[in-house]
Amino acid sequence: MNVKKLLAVIIALSFMIMPFTMAYAAADAAGVMASPLAAISATQGADKAIASPQKVFVDGREVRVEAYNINGYNYFKLRDIARLLSGTKSQFSVDYDAGANTIIAKTGEAYQPVGGELSIGADKSAACASSNWVFKVNGLNVNASKYIIGGNNFFKLRDLGTAFGFAVAYDSSKNAAVITSGKISLVFNDSNYAVKTSDFEGKTIAYRAYENIVYVSNPVDADYEVMNIYIPEEYFGGKSIGNYNAETAPIFFPNMVGGYMPAKPGSPGVDNAGNPNAILMALSKGYVVAAPGARGRTLQGENGTFTGKAPACIVDLKAAVRYLRYNDEIMPGSAERIVSNGTSAGGALSALLGATGNNADYAPYLEEIGAANEPDDIFAASCYCPITNLDNADTAYEWLFNGINDYDFRGTKGTLTEDQIKVSNQLKAMFPAYLNSLGLKKADGTALTLDLNGDGTFKDYVKSFVIASAQKALDNGTDLSGLDWITINNGTVTDIDFEKYAVYATRMKPAPAFDALDLSSFENSLFGTAAVDNQHFTKFSQENSTKDGSIADAKIIKMMNPMNYIGTEGTTTAKYWRIRHGAVDRDTSLAIPVILATKLENEGFDVDFMLPWGQGHGGDYDLDELFDWIDRITKK
Ligand code: DHB
Repeated sequence: MNVKKLLAVIIALSFMIMPFTMAYAAADAAGVMASPLAAISATQGADKAIASPQKVFVDGREVRVEAYNINGYNYFKLRDIARLLSGTKSQFSVDYDAGANTIIAKTGEAYQPVGGELSIGADKSAACASSNWVFKVNGLNVNASKYIIGGNNFFKLRDLGTAFGFAVAYDSSKNAAVITSGKISLVFNDSNYAVKTSDFEGKTIAYRAYENIVYVSNPVDADYEVMNIYIPEEYFGGKSIGNYNAETAPIFFPNMVGGYMPAKPGSPGVDNAGNPNAILMALSKGYVVAAPGARGRTLQGENGTFTGKAPACIVDLKAAVRYLRYNDEIMPGSAERIVSNGTSAGGALSALLGATGNNADYAPYLEEIGAANEPDDIFAASCYCPITNLDNADTAYEWLFNGINDYDFRGTKGTLTEDQIKVSNQLKAMFPAYLNSLGLKKADGTALTLDLNGDGTFKDYVKSFVIASAQKALDNGTDLSGLDWITINNGTVTDIDFEKYAVYATRMKPAPAFDALDLSSFENSLFGTAAVDNQHFTKFSQENSTKDGSIADAKIIKMMNPMNYIGTEGTTTAKYWRIRHGAVDRDTSLAIPVILATKLENEGFDVDFMLPWGQGHGGDYDLDELFDWIDRITKK
């Protein structure tokens, strides 16, 4: 719960004990009447209302109801909507406390009419001011957009939809707003849990498990757009764990996405060796855990259309973040301290979540699935081997592996064909222009660049991370004497042969590594559409496609790459970053995480970046260090 929201609750509560003014109660007719006090204190906004020209359908039935359009959205009186939905699964009751300027609604309760509902008077759009009334649903202070028009509170329909669990869509053929009841309310139900325990290092950890909570009001796939929320039992008894309590505990937000596939939410457990997983470890340290599921590239609806192609996976994770912010006031843990974690494709999504907070590009997708109308920026992103920057990953891969022709692709060994070698040469030659276009700098201001051969300060910089990794291994007693590509003088790693390093790491993927010319890669599948399973996402591969493949929408390609958003206007990029890429991980080029980390640093973000020695493609292998990092940044 954040302090600002807590204050708002206290202020609202203090208003509620003021005497209830009967005069205002009598005025509460078809809507929730605003008190003169509220009307005066409401700021006269620049927003203009017009009587909505749209038709309205509720569960397929056309209804007549007073509505105004403000900034492209429909606004309705609460009592009208309550009346229309009474008897459906989305029904809700309405009460109010005029003295406290508070409107009170409860989900699942039948609506009691007060008279005057659904009456349509004259057009009152001339008098429109933003409303400062408090709106409470099941006790939660809901952040809904509302205006006072002709003395009544009018609510943004979409915000009512997320609170009461109905979908709002636009039917252009009928120019109609379409309301469908029986969806999901996003108001957290704190009694919907099971107490569970796990053993951890001789201790029993008890926590409340809220599992498979749907985090959008209008899910495309309710098997995946769900979250498991785990809260240490101590926080319900007012206790602390270490330095954390119910107010301050960070929310650990691990996604389980791999291969850009659909992912179910994770749960506390141990691995084969009996080591606790990240979720169990987080609980033991007093974190609240919110483990989101997300749609992925292979998901299909009943009619066979694809329902999880890009940008579904990142849209879902953002929606889950919004759910946590929406309910911050009533859920233990601080939604101002959400720390995302993921590996590989999941690491890429963690980076994308961290980079793109609140950016408007994702808003239409979030609206469509009924995500809460809340910010979606996060505090920190932990990214293990992020398979990211996909539209530049092919050139980066050949910059590193050009000249190495043998590959071992998930067990399939092969040698590049003549054509593939030509492709490798072409892609390698394209990388310097991209890298130079980024204008990256070292901490000391040195420009990071490459010449036409791919040599230059950037290459030396990438080398420096491998050198640092080898040095750390050496300092920890690892025997590096058998590696002829490492130069060691008196216990100091002074140089590496970069070309030999690449041979040592080995090539995994043929060229192009990501945007396969035959549309066969994970990423081709990620960039498909509802109707097309696989598409290209680079101009090069589309032009050289062996399958006459189409290319994904440019906006969607943009939305899947964190590089386009870091520190940009209209975006709230996470302040803290931890990026790990194994020193022998060849699922993507070493250049990719180096570029990501450097861009973040150059834009002023706090980055902890390393290449763990001997580590291949994987994540969560250094949990003590991961949680030490989170403890450190939350103290800052
Ligand atoms: C993953 C690995 C890859 O090599 C890739 O291209 C995409 C995703 C993964 O492990 O998630």
